[in-house]
Amino acid sequence: MSEQNNEYDLNQTDEYVNHLADVEKTNPATASEDIFNEHGVLLLKKGAVINQRVAGHLVQHKLKKELDQSISVANALTVYDVLNLILELVESEAQFNLLHQHFEFEVTIRQLLFVKPIPAQVLQRLTVMQKVMPDVFRRSIFSAWMTPLLAKIQGFPHQSYYSAFAAGLAHDIGLLHIPVDAATKGEGLSYQQWRALKTHPIVARIIMEGRKIYDEDALNGVADHQERCDRSGYPSQKPAKEINWIAPLIAMSDQLFEIFYDDKRSNKTILAWNAYLEVNMSTFGLRNVESLLAVLKDSRIASHVDKALPEVKVEDVTRQNEQVSELFDLAVGLFDIAANYPRSRIARGVSECITQMRWVRDSAGMGSEHLSEWLGWGEQHNDEIDAVEMAEISELLACIRWRFRHLWRLAVEFSWNDKLPAEDKAEVEEIYKKMQPLLPRPGLIDPEAPEPEVQAAAMANE
Ligand SMILES: [Fe+2]
Repeated sequence: MSEQNNEYDLNQTDEYVNHLADVEKTNPATASEDIFNEHGVLLLKKGAVINQRVAGHLVQHKLKKELDQSISVANALTVYDVLNLILELVESEAQFNLLHQHFEFEVTIRQLLFVKPIPAQVLQRLTVMQKVMPDVFRRSIFSAWMTPLLAKIQGFPHQSYYSAFAAGLAHDIGLLHIPVDAATKGEGLSYQQWRALKTHPIVARIIMEGRKIYDEDALNGVADHQERCDRSGYPSQKPAKEINWIAPLIAMSDQLFEIFYDDKRSNKTILAWNAYLEVNMSTFGLRNVESLLAVLKDSRIASHVDKALPEVKVEDVTRQNEQVSELFDLAVGLFDIAANYPRSRIARGVSECITQMRWVRDSAGMGSEHLSEWLGWGEQHNDEIDAVEMAEISELLACIRWRFRHLWRLAVEFSWNDKLPAEDKAEVEEIYKKMQPLLPRPGLIDPEAPEPEVQAAAMANE
């Protein structure tokens, strides 16, 4: 993969070749013609199967032609398989089905599958993804359903659903071009892994663009799907107004999937989405979030959803509130330093992210003295507290801590900026180290990861 992710070259082979070899037993990839490198040297004869040995030979070669056009993957998914997988997923969960029926989405999704053919290159990658990254695959299937559903919920024009569907389905195919660990580990990524992960949205866009059937919305939606409206996303920390409208819908789909299937939760429920959405209005855009919240609170949906959130102890909520309060205190110093670097994208991301989280704090009182006093009273009057209300507050506090995890990542990246004077760098490091134990899960990247010489290169891309 090239150094600058926007220069990704379709003719350059990468990790995808190894993934093709990984599925050799179930879905052998065969050369449908002779494969040459850019100098015309024969690398693989027509009819040969890509196994581990061949992959080792092909990887990191610049080919004469895009690899996709010279191979065929056996037993690849068809458009009917994709339709069935979407319907199976929806029907397997009564609450998904509730939304599906309420918005009469069955007809819509069936139509969407056949608006245009799904290109073989996309189906082949999804086939490989199903085997090597099954969770990412399931999330993609969910997004193919949820992204256009979110468009329908907001009343976007019917013509836009296809772009939302196509982007939802294919948005993570770029992950096939990086090692599985980097794509799926979700915490403690090495510098190289983090750099690889950051490329996946643009790689997916380039692959899709090459098929020449997707419109700009689908392509930009995919390219921006890891960006966030509070500038806490990646790879560019784009401001909200520059993010394609489909991207936050994909981002929401991905997150809602993760929350619903989070195995740390005692029960699977769409009720868990409420707190997350309340806390993340500025992450995905007010309109996007409010329209879904309105649906979840609509009595025709809500009356069918079990209200039982797991019970929480007041003492635990007090602790959560203290953690949130500490995190906001730590953010003060970070905000002040970031304000001195208005030209740095990461610094602007830090500032915006903190500003948006303060707005949540001020409107909901999280981490506040007032809430702390009230919880203190609750600890003394256990029998008088409303268990549902307490569970909801706990959820909100947990969600804001997740937002701090994104801020933490930005802070780590900010500290890598070689334009930072040593004292600011040291201060940022001190702040994120103090934030670390207060986060709900270890950070996405390993702060000790970068090699000194690559830090400068990283920041040259800023
Ligand atoms: Fe992604």
